[in-house]
Amino acid sequence: MRVVKLSLALAATFSAAFATAAVKPEAAINYRQSVYNVIGWNFGPLAQMMKGKTPWDAAEFARHADRIAFLAPQLLEGFPEGSDKGAETEAKPEIWKHMDDFKVKMDDFVKQSRLLADVAKGGDEAKMKEQFKQTAGACKACHDKYRKEE
Ligand code: HEC
Repeated sequence: MRVVKLSLALAATFSAAFATAAVKPEAAINYRQSVYNVIGWNFGPLAQMMKGKTPWDAAEFARHADRIAFLAPQLLEGFPEGSDKGAETEAKPEIWKHMDDFKVKMDDFVKQSRLLADVAKGGDEAKMKEQFKQTAGACKACHDKYRKEE
């Protein structure tokens, strides 16, 4: 019994320490910028194919789309309360004032990127191009409102 109590106490201590560490603003900012950069890395080749700057390659398209769909749902946790400052950030403070709306935009991006990955598995070029536009629109809708001008 004593052992159980002790381990519970230890678990509580560790999770409390972790919760505190998890909301460090600079860590959250670093995290979300990293995820955006990995998304951007994978989005670039799709945009190049869309513009005809690189040859159309459905398999390559699907590979990148799949990664984006995997990353998109991991973004929201990078915006905890208080992470509007603490390191250099392009996130506007409006995000935390309108968190409900920000979440709607994030949900839409998650949905569109999931659809993009699903459509890409089918390999239908016209459908993939159409869904790419929907996904890019979801990036833009959020950036226009919540990302500072570079
Ligand atoms: C729901 C809102 C939202 C969506 C959707 C969104 N972004 Fe962003 N993005 C942001 C915000 C806010 C920042 C600024 C983050 C910061 O500096 O803390 C950002 C930053 C970035 C950055 C710069 C990261 C850095 O180095 O600082 C890139 C690249 C980027 N986004 C690409 C994309 C792409 C590509 C998409 C769509 C495929 C997308 N974003 C969708 C809100 C969004």
